[in-house]
Amino acid sequence: MNFSIDSTVTLNNGIKMPQLGLGVWQINNAGAAQSVEWAIKHGYRAIDTAKQYGNEAGVGAGLTKALADNGLKREDIFLTTKIFNGDQGYESTLEQFDGQLKNLQTDYVDLLLIHWPVDGKYLDTWKALEKIYQEGKARAIGVSNFNVTRLKDILKNGSVKPAVDQMEFNPLCQEGDIKNFCQENNIHLEAWSPLGGGTVLNDERLKKIADKYHKSVAQIILRWDLQQGIITIPKSVHEERIVQNANIYDFELSDDDVNEIKGYDEEKRSLWYGGFKWHGNPTGASDAVQDWDDSTEYAK
Ligand code: A2P
Repeated sequence: MNFSIDSTVTLNNGIKMPQLGLGVWQINNAGAAQSVEWAIKHGYRAIDTAKQYGNEAGVGAGLTKALADNGLKREDIFLTTKIFNGDQGYESTLEQFDGQLKNLQTDYVDLLLIHWPVDGKYLDTWKALEKIYQEGKARAIGVSNFNVTRLKDILKNGSVKPAVDQMEFNPLCQEGDIKNFCQENNIHLEAWSPLGGGTVLNDERLKKIADKYHKSVAQIILRWDLQQGIITIPKSVHEERIVQNANIYDFELSDDDVNEIKGYDEEKRSLWYGGFKWHGNPTGASDAVQDWDDSTEYAK
C-alpha cells in the first residue's frame, strides 16, 4: 500500500479529504495557532477543530499565518469544524455558523459536522447543514458521535447523505457496528482521539509490535488507521510529536499485525471513563441544551 502525507480518501460527494490531519481538542487559542503552524509546516494538509473546543479563532490565526509562511492557498488545506451543541436547531445553526467562519478567517469549510447528536434537534440541525452545503459554505457535511440508529434517522429524513461519521476510535475502541454500517453505506469513518487521548500508548502488546517495526506505538496506531481506510486526526502540542505522527509512510504493517490489533478491541470509550462533562462550555456562548444525551447511551 502506497501512502504519503498527501494521501486522500474520496468522500461520497466526490471531494477528496486527506487521510491524516491534526486534531486540536483541549488546546487553547494560542496553542492551537502554534500547533496548526507546525503541522502545516511539516506537511499536514488537514486540520480538525470545533466551536466546542473554544479555539476556532486560534486555528484561524494559525492557518492564515501558515498559508502565508508556506506559500500555500486556502484550497490547499482541508478544514473541518463542528456545530456546537448549544447552537443546534435550524435557525440558530445558520445564525451561528457565520461567526465560526469569521473566527476561522475563511469563507467556507471543507467539512462541517454535527458535533454530538442532540436528540430532538439533530434533524433540524442537519437541514441547516444541507443549506450551508448547498450555499457552498461547506464542501461536505457529516456527523460526529452518531450511532447506527441516528445515522439511519439522518439517511431516512435528510436529502444529503453524511460524508463522514467522526467517532472515538482506537485499538481498544473499534466501533464495530458503526464501522460496518459506515462501510456499507459509503460513509467514511474518522477517528477522534486515535491514540486514546494518549492512554493506549502504554499498551504492552502495542509496544512489542512497535519495537518490531522500530516505530513508536503512536506511529503503529496511525499506520493501522491508514491501512484500514480510516481518517485519523491525532492531537499534539509538541512539534516533535506532530512530526513523528506524520512519519508513518516508510513502513507497512503486515495483514497479521493489522488483524492482531483488531483483536484488542474492548469497546472502551475513554471519554466517559474520564467523566468528561460536555455541558462545560469553553466558548462563553449560552448552552441552551441542558438535557441532551450525555451518557453512555449516545452510541448504543
Ligand atoms: P501532547 O499534546 O502533549 O503531545 P489523541 O489524539 O488520541 O487525543 O491523543 C492525544 C494525546 O496523546 C495528547 O495527550 C498528546 O500529548 C499525546 N500524543 C500525541 N502524539 C504523541 C506521540 N507521538 N507520542 C506520545 N504522546 C503523544
